[in-house]
Amino acid sequence: MSQPKILAFAGSTRTGSFNQLLISAAKNCALAVGAEVTQINLADYSLPLFDQDLESSQGIPDNAKRLKELFLDHARLLLACPEYNSSITPLLKNTIDWVSRPASPEERPLSAYRGKTAALLSASPGGFGGLRGLRHVREILSNIGVIVTPNQFSLAQADSAFCEHGHLRVEKQRKMLAACVEQFVQTTAALAPQNAS
Ligand SMILES: Cc1cc2nc3c(=O)[nH]c(=O)nc-3n(C[C@H](O)[C@H](O)[C@H](O)COP(=O)(O)O)c2cc1C
Repeated sequence: MSQPKILAFAGSTRTGSFNQLLISAAKNCALAVGAEVTQINLADYSLPLFDQDLESSQGIPDNAKRLKELFLDHARLLLACPEYNSSITPLLKNTIDWVSRPASPEERPLSAYRGKTAALLSASPGGFGGLRGLRHVREILSNIGVIVTPNQFSLAQADSAFCEHGHLRVEKQRKMLAACVEQFVQTTAALAPQNAS
């Protein structure tokens, strides 16, 4: 089976973000089972709030183009998504929207998304671990052509879940995260080459 190439990022740029800690831990799980992973921080791709008038007058921002190139170069997405008021963060939705925009009328719609496979993670200081927000992320991604794998992992009480080295303290949680990521890697490898990058 071919090895999947995964683009991994969190839907938060907050200093000390729990979702960034979680995506880093997930990246290590993916590397441990032989995946190739590119981890990015959306802080390095800052974008204005999507506005169609802005797009018409100034075109697609360079950071959106850079992000889209990355999406096109990776057939797998691994996302750690904070939950804001039971839903997706504005940062993540804004990123999805900018990356969805065609560079020219000839470009195939949603080229950065169609046929990709994604796995969803979340972390929150709350008791549900951001689980409710993932329903919305799953729906949005599915509607734009991404196959979102059924398994997901939500980390509750994330504010006390990591040690100072960024590792999950509780073995059961480490195992659950590893199992989720491993299953994602195996599923996406099984889908290759039809779904590979
Ligand atoms: C506007 C806003 C809404 C929030 N709504 C929720 C929520 O619905 N459920 C939840 O578990 N946490 C909620 N939180 C708390 C976040 O889970 C918490 O800020 C978390 O640390 C964000 O993820 P991060 O650490 O990766 O930045 C909310 C935070 C903000 C700023």
